[in-house]
Amino acid sequence: MEKFFTEIHTEEINENIFKLIGKDWMLITAGDKNKYNMMTASWGTAGVLWRKPVIFTFVRPQRYTYEFMENNAYFSVSFFEEKHRDVLNICGTTSGRDLNKMNIDGLSPLSTPSNSIAFEEAKLVLECRKIYFDDIDPAFFQVFDIEKVYPAKDYHRFYVGEIVRAWKKNA
Ligand SMILES: Cc1cc2nc3c(=O)[nH]c(=O)nc-3n(C[C@H](O)[C@H](O)[C@H](O)COP(=O)(O)O)c2cc1C
Repeated sequence: MEKFFTEIHTEEINENIFKLIGKDWMLITAGDKNKYNMMTASWGTAGVLWRKPVIFTFVRPQRYTYEFMENNAYFSVSFFEEKHRDVLNICGTTSGRDLNKMNIDGLSPLSTPSNSIAFEEAKLVLECRKIYFDDIDPAFFQVFDIEKVYPAKDYHRFYVGEIVRAWKKNA
């Protein structure tokens, strides 16, 4: 990691988190160098919970990535510059069940200290320890338009990741 990235404090992340997640998008990756999978996500949030810096990711149960999130204690979240949009589109429209994303062009995997996977091309990587999960329960929707997001009733499972290390790409 150190060849390409420098570890920073989460308070040194100076980009707008709404833009980072909602517009730039992120790659959620789980697994280790022997077997991993990643998917694009644009829904999530980051902040502080239980006195820890955290990121919440939302993964529908039919995603192949879901299996990796379930079976691994750590995951990573990677953010990219605009020039990598094509690969984010592929990872957001193709399942690892149909295409081995470990061989995808334009993403060079790196093992992190927690043995999760980061990508050399990323501008920012958050290494996360899975500390909590829960499933969205429609019984608790307070506004009815949210249900429209779930015509198949495939309610997301959300994972709270403690950000154990944040890595910024070397200049
Ligand atoms: C811009 C964008 C954002 C997405 N955000 C999410 C998300 O937050 N949660 C989710 O479950 N799927 C999201 N997806 C869909 C998955 O990325 C997509 O279904 C992917 O092919 C899943 O891959 P997998 O089956 O290999 O896990 C998004 C797709 C795109 C293009």
